Amino acid sequence: MTAVMPELCLPGLVRTATQSRATVVEHELMARNTWRMRLQAPQMARTILPGQFFMIRFPDRSDPLLGRPFALYDIYCDNSGQPAGIEFGYVVVGKMTSLFESLKPGDEVELWGPLGNGFPLPPAGHLVIVAGGIGQTPFLAVIREALRRRAYGTPARQITQVPSRITLCYGVRSQEYLAGVAEFEQEGIDIRIATDDGSVGHRGFVTDLLKEIIAEPVPPAAVYCCGPEPMMHAVSQVTTTAGLPCWLSLETPMACGFGACFSCVTKIRQDDGTWDYRRVCVEGPVFPADQIVFD
Ligand SMILES: Cc1cc2nc3c(=O)[nH]c(=O)nc-3n(C[C@H](O)[C@H](O)[C@H](O)COP(=O)(O)OP(=O)(O)OC[C@H]3O[C@@H](n4cnc5c(N)ncnc54)[C@H](O)[C@@H]3O)c2cc1C
Ligand code: FES
Repeated sequence: MTAVMPELCLPGLVRTATQSRATVVEHELMARNTWRMRLQAPQMARTILPGQFFMIRFPDRSDPLLGRPFALYDIYCDNSGQPAGIEFGYVVVGKMTSLFESLKPGDEVELWGPLGNGFPLPPAGHLVIVAGGIGQTPFLAVIREALRRRAYGTPARQITQVPSRITLCYGVRSQEYLAGVAEFEQEGIDIRIATDDGSVGHRGFVTDLLKEIIAEPVPPAAVYCCGPEPMMHAVSQVTTTAGLPCWLSLETPMACGFGACFSCVTKIRQDDGTWDYRRVCVEGPVFPADQIVFD
C-alpha cells in the first residue's frame, strides 16, 4: 500500500513524501545497543537524499501511537542496480526503539517520507564531519554522494564539485558504541575517533579533534554535524568563532514529521537579529549553525 501525503505548500516540505508499508529485510547489531535495519521501500529509495529522514510506526499497534523520526543511513539496490530500499541505524532509548529490537525479516512497519531538507551539496575543499553517538547515521550517504560513489534522488542529484578531502570526527562514550566504522573506512576518508573513556582514539571531546583540524594551515571549507544537542552547541561555538560555515542536523522530538503539529519547533535567528520558531521537520532538520539559538 502506498499513499501520497497531502500536498502542503510549506517552505521546505518535501512534496515527494509517501506513506507505505515496508518489509524488514535485514536487522543486525552494529554496536552496543545499536542496530541497523534494512527495509524494502523502492519508492522511498528512489527519492530520498542524504540528510533527509522518515517516520516509522507499527501498522497494527496504537501504542506507541506516534511515529518516530530516523535519518537515512543509506539506500540499497537490487541485482539490476535499481534502488530497492533504505537502511537506518538506531540506538535503543525508549518505547519504540525497544520494540524495534524484536523485529525480524518479513515483519512490516509503516513508513512515511522522505522528509526534511537534508545537507547542502558538498564544498570543493576540505569537508569536516563531526558526529556524536548515533549522530553518525546521516553521514555515510553524505560521503558516498560527495565522492560520487552513489547517486540519490530522481532525477539523480548532480554533484558539481567533489571535496578535496573528507574527515570524519566521530565521538562515542567508549569503543563498544562505535558503529559502522568499517563502512566509513571503505570510502577511504580520514577518520578520527574520540571516546569519553579513552578506550580508543582521543580521550575527550570530539570538539578537541575539530579544533586540531581548524588549527591546520588550510582551514576546512565546511563542517557538517549531528549528535547530542550539547555537542552540537559546542561545535557551533567552535565554528562560529573560527568563522567557518557549519550545518547542524537537529534531532528534535517530532509527532507528525510533515509540518502539521508544531511539536518540533526550534528557535532560529532572523536577519534582523530577533528569533522565531521554525519547524525542524519541514524547514530542517539541517540548519546553518549560526542561525540556531541554543538556550
Ligand atoms: C530528524 C531526526 C533524525 C533522527 N535520526 C535518528 C537515527 O538515525 N537513529 C536514532 O537512533 N535516532 C534518531 N533520531 C532520534 C529518534 O527519533 C529517537 O531516539 C526516537 O524517537 C526514540 O523513540 P523511542 O520511542 O524509543 O523513545 P521514547 O520512548 O519516545 O523516549 C525515550 C527517552 O528518550 C527521549 N527522547 C526521545 N527522542 C529524543 C530526541 N530526539 N532527543 C533527545 N531525547 C529524546 C525521551 O525524552 C525519553 O526520555 C532522530 C531524530 C530526528 C528528529
Ligand atoms: S513534527 Fe509536526 S510540525 Fe514538525
